[in-house]
Amino acid sequence: MQKIVIAIDGYSGCGKSSTAKAVAQNLGYTYIDSGAMYRAATLHFLNNHVVLSNPKEVNKYLESLEISFHLNPDNGKQETYLNGLNVEDEIRSMRVSDYVSEVSKIKEVRTELVAQQQRLGKKKGVVMDGRDIGTVVFPSAELKVFMSADLNIRAERRQKELLERGDLVALEKIVQNLAERDQVDTTRKESPLRKAEDAVELDTSLLEFEDQVNQIVSFAKEKIGI
Ligand code: DC
Repeated sequence: MQKIVIAIDGYSGCGKSSTAKAVAQNLGYTYIDSGAMYRAATLHFLNNHVVLSNPKEVNKYLESLEISFHLNPDNGKQETYLNGLNVEDEIRSMRVSDYVSEVSKIKEVRTELVAQQQRLGKKKGVVMDGRDIGTVVFPSAELKVFMSADLNIRAERRQKELLERGDLVALEKIVQNLAERDQVDTTRKESPLRKAEDAVELDTSLLEFEDQVNQIVSFAKEKIGI
């Protein structure tokens, strides 16, 4: 059967990752979380006290950055590894969230991570979510989806997710973090977040999770011709 690339872009915290994961599972595709790669790069830079305004230092630490994804047999979830260590929980912390937009603005970081993402999607049969997947990483993806949702609804969902990890964070702090990331992501010089012309728009504010997954799966099946 023909395999396609599904690119899912959109604002922070509107359910891209969980939706993309469920779509991939439904179609038997590989899910790739490009945001986790920017988060892992951010953690690597934080751990090594990298001065972001120093390109030499940034390049040096990009060379020692190795990101991989492995399936955890205990919970069936795909987890992110940084230089051989499982960092899945750490990259979702507010410490990383507060810093990740600054790191993802850097041209050298984007060039390196985009190249890695293109390699991971070369064989197709992938669902990748992020900010520039339909515009930069896979401009010829067969299916592009652009997701959005009301800021307060996104913050409430993110708060619940953090709480499930044992992290109690005030709603205002999350609203502020999401709003700041939206601002940086949409206005940065390098690959700003924008809807690709040929992307389907999906506002998930009032959608049930299953409905948004089913919609994307049926768009995909239409493209594949099943
Ligand atoms: O999807 P996420 O919230 O985990 O992504 C974390 C940050 O990474 C987000 O603030 C913007 C950045 N990012 C990006 O610039 N390009 C991508 N393709 C994915 C994420």
